[in-house]
Amino acid sequence: MAGIDQDTAKPVLALEPSAYCDAGAYERERDAIFKKSWRLVGHENMAPNSGDYFSDSLAGVPIVVVRQEDGTLKGHHNICRHRAGPLVADSKGHCGKELTCKYHGWRYALDGRLKSARDFGAVEGFDPRDYVLTPVTIGTWRGFVFATLNERPAPIADEMQAVGEDWPDQTVAPFAFQRSHNIACNWKTYVENYLEGYHVPDVHPGLDKEVDSSAYRVEMKDATAVHYAPPLSKDAVYSGYWGWVWPWVGVNVYQYGVMMERITPISVCETRLDYLYFFDPDRHDELNAMIAMSDEVTNEDKMICEHVAKNLNAGTYQPGPLSLKHENAVLWFHDRLRQLMGYK
Ligand code: FES
Ligand SMILES: [Fe+2]
Repeated sequence: MAGIDQDTAKPVLALEPSAYCDAGAYERERDAIFKKSWRLVGHENMAPNSGDYFSDSLAGVPIVVVRQEDGTLKGHHNICRHRAGPLVADSKGHCGKELTCKYHGWRYALDGRLKSARDFGAVEGFDPRDYVLTPVTIGTWRGFVFATLNERPAPIADEMQAVGEDWPDQTVAPFAFQRSHNIACNWKTYVENYLEGYHVPDVHPGLDKEVDSSAYRVEMKDATAVHYAPPLSKDAVYSGYWGWVWPWVGVNVYQYGVMMERITPISVCETRLDYLYFFDPDRHDELNAMIAMSDEVTNEDKMICEHVAKNLNAGTYQPGPLSLKHENAVLWFHDRLRQLMGYK
């Protein structure tokens, strides 16, 4: 039976603390999980014109996505083929007709071909055609742009299908702004917290007044965990629908917009959350209410996750049992990690 350990006939336990505290485990996760996954890097409307770009980092590999002259988007490693300088140094901008390295000024066409190795001088055998920017695979779904280092990824539409089923298409809401929050915990501690509503009454009293947390349920399908928590009134800020897509994308649906969330492991004990807000521009009051609620919930989650991280590092915690009623998605997450990483 799900949730019961077949060997002990007792509840399945949480993961051992070493999975959250061991730098070696974190390094292995980068290769086994994050380098193989699609990552949300932005939205098409963040780069509407030729030469517009946005940048991100994929499991430690800096990338840039740039709008081409033919209107398509292309992704490159943001690493110059000369001596590893950056082509762009900011998160979003416009580069004109070419990407120019910030170090010695090599100039690349938007499609990645080296156009000019500035003032390089004569070097026998040097052929600019040998130095094309390394491409990165990108895919779009509902205007959201994803990238991956996986050479044979599943189509992004397949990955996002489950989360899209009950999520009304909000692509009319343009990108509003982005904010980041750092949390001093392992990424898995934050994800586990994301995957259950059990903590809502204790940790989020404001949210608890907005949604019926007694009816909170999470359903898993493929690589997605979808949360339903019915709003208690039609004026609720949240729509009561959240989605999480393995391993680092959160979809937070509000009445008049959506906040797309990237969960990025920075080190074994630090996680960065990037919140990308897409919102109906005519709904200023609702946008402010959404930001206020989002900040409140984030601060509460940060506080509890940082406490948990300290306690996992204390060296005395023995894994406790998981609730089938409330923590089915945490069990599912741990199963995936046990299979992929061999965690106990
Ligand atoms: S590192 Fe890019 S031009 Fe030198
Ligand atoms: Fe929470």
